[in-house]
Amino acid sequence: MHNNTPKRVLIVGCGYVGMALGRHLASDGHVVFGLRRSQAGHEAMEAAGIRPVMGDITRADDLRQLPGPFNWVVNLVSSSRGGTTEYRDVYVGGMRNLMKAVAGDDLQKFVYTSSTSVYSQCDGSTVDENSSVVAQSETSQSLIDAEMQLLQAVPESQFPAVTLRASGIYGPGRGHLFRQFIAGEAHRIGDSSRWLNMIHRDDLVGAIVAALERGVPGERYNATDDCPVTELEFFEWLVRELGMPMPAVGGADIVSRRKRALTSKRVLNGKLRAIGWQLRYPSYREGYAEDVKRALDRLESRP
Ligand SMILES: NC(=O)c1ccc[n+]([C@@H]2O[C@H](COP(=O)([O-])OP(=O)(O)OC[C@H]3O[C@@H](n4cnc5c(N)ncnc54)[C@H](OP(=O)(O)O)[C@@H]3O)[C@@H](O)[C@H]2O)c1
Repeated sequence: MHNNTPKRVLIVGCGYVGMALGRHLASDGHVVFGLRRSQAGHEAMEAAGIRPVMGDITRADDLRQLPGPFNWVVNLVSSSRGGTTEYRDVYVGGMRNLMKAVAGDDLQKFVYTSSTSVYSQCDGSTVDENSSVVAQSETSQSLIDAEMQLLQAVPESQFPAVTLRASGIYGPGRGHLFRQFIAGEAHRIGDSSRWLNMIHRDDLVGAIVAALERGVPGERYNATDDCPVTELEFFEWLVRELGMPMPAVGGADIVSRRKRALTSKRVLNGKLRAIGWQLRYPSYREGYAEDVKRALDRLESRP
């Protein structure tokens, strides 16, 4: 149990990360609500101690029915489907609706998970929260605008917002490149020298809790592990661990199919560490250990 008064928490977009966060907060004694558009996941939410709420943040009317007030709000909505218009509706319009719906004296912290894709650096340089952000695509422009909207509300209306910029999320059942590799469908991009930045789902949960408890309103924090890795090094590690072949170099279509632009940078996490965040999985090696073991068992049991 935590030492402080239990909070009323709203997790908006209670999906992959939200579910793990909700389970953690509920087991810590907080009263947790999880919002999503569909019934999907309601049973799993209840099993995790989360109270399901149905609603779409792009519809202001839906949010008038929220069982507030809330002390902590976490916006984890993700626009997995649709094009750039839907993306903007969810990240910018949805955020505006949500901010209006939850503002008030009871609100102590509002955490938003943006993305390290707002850093457009392609030269392998190290980036921290003071590095420049330049939109490379309409989707990253939406992420930047969502952040700006929040940042402006901090001095204007004392809105207690903290932004986390998460790198590539992986964990049980997730991890795009890893799963492509296992399926024999991964491709190398060029000479594979681009840097990848990752965070295990459970460490992102820890980052969100740190931001809720100790994040400073108006600040942005990178949420990523200690170990940026080049694509080549990552594949070489998988080849060694699993005894599978090195993926072939992909064509131009592999790059053009991506929603977000390809960048190459090494993201630093010192600012989040400075507020007491501790990593359980400092690198992909520890984070993927269980998955690697399971994949090896499957490979070995093949006739
Ligand atoms: N994946 C990455 O590597 C990555 C990297 C950086 C940052 N992020 C950010 O991290 C956060 C968490 O990601 P995740 O992987 O947990 O996402 P996820 O599993 O896709 O979950 C997102 C949830 O949002 C709900 N949702 C979508 N649109 C909604 C709307 N209009 N109103 C209400 N709920 C809505 C979805 O449920 P319904 O469909 O039932 O509504 C789903 O449960 C997101 O903000 C994402 O942008 C992700």
